[in-house]
Amino acid sequence: MVTKEKIDALFNQLNDLKCQTQKQVEEARVRLLGRKGEITALFEEFRNVDKDMKREFGRVLNELKQAASAKIEQLKAATETVAADNGSNEDLTMPGEPQPLGSRHPVSIVRQEIVDIFRKFGYDVAEGPEIEDDYHVFEALNFPPNHPARDMQDTFFVSAGHINPLLLRTHTSSVQVRSMEKMDLPIRVICPGRVFRNEAISARAHCIFHQVEGLYIDENVTFADLKQAILLFAREMFGPDTQIRMRPSYFPFTEPSSEIDVSCNICHGKGCNICKGTGWLEIMGCGMVDPNVLEASGIDSKKYSGFAFGMGIERIAMLKWQVNDLRHYFENDLRFLREFDSAIEV
Ligand code: PHE
Repeated sequence: MVTKEKIDALFNQLNDLKCQTQKQVEEARVRLLGRKGEITALFEEFRNVDKDMKREFGRVLNELKQAASAKIEQLKAATETVAADNGSNEDLTMPGEPQPLGSRHPVSIVRQEIVDIFRKFGYDVAEGPEIEDDYHVFEALNFPPNHPARDMQDTFFVSAGHINPLLLRTHTSSVQVRSMEKMDLPIRVICPGRVFRNEAISARAHCIFHQVEGLYIDENVTFADLKQAILLFAREMFGPDTQIRMRPSYFPFTEPSSEIDVSCNICHGKGCNICKGTGWLEIMGCGMVDPNVLEASGIDSKKYSGFAFGMGIERIAMLKWQVNDLRHYFENDLRFLREFDSAIEV
């Protein structure tokens, strides 16, 4: 018997009808519109509908049939494109394979942190070539001709034997020389970058590592300015209670020169195995730029003075996260790298 309920139920069924494959569409067509289909059956039974209801039921049944045909066509088209895209019957609506997101390398995170601190102090970032000449890495920085750093043992030479051989830079001080050559005074730059030294790889040394070096040149720059800049940096980097200690040292390009230690942020000076019981951790070298270095780059050393400093990024990262083997930073072991997924402060 044709009833309003049956017709409504079929309209609802059509609304909810979903098919993922062409096979399912064909099954739905047969079930509704096939020779023995549910809608076809209603048309058969239409004969028995009361005369005065025929008009009304006839109209609604035709609407139902049209709606069913349209829906089947639409589903057919939709599943055809899926099949064509795929070239197979694979179900593309299944959830995908998860793709793990990468994250920043710990060395990049610390480099950015150092750069951000000095940017706040008004420093610009300068970069330069990794393959450099002897002049910018050594000569302009007051290295005497026989200085051991020029030795084959420390430096990777690209073209040995020439007057000004090409080599892989051993520090980013070469970028400071390039900055002095081309920038107007006063100069305030930091130079982050990769450096290369011919060293045996161990837990504490690697033949490739990263540095951030800094340079400030102006009139009346003093050692007190250097001390203050380093203290502010150390407190931003390692916490507001951090103390610094300066030990006399030697670099060909600075005079006087100093090595900087920060108070151990793990034991707070009491002594632990990270600071080897001393309460202090070495973080960088620094000093007042030697007048010879200023003059070599055409800066009047009577009028201008400046300071420079340089630190290894891996070293700072080791202290920050208490990693005791430098090699972890180069081996790209995902188990190690994933530990830093949440280390970026956003
Ligand atoms: N260039 C030095 C190094 O690579 C670091 C340094 C930079 C020291 C500037 C003093 C001043 O070890």
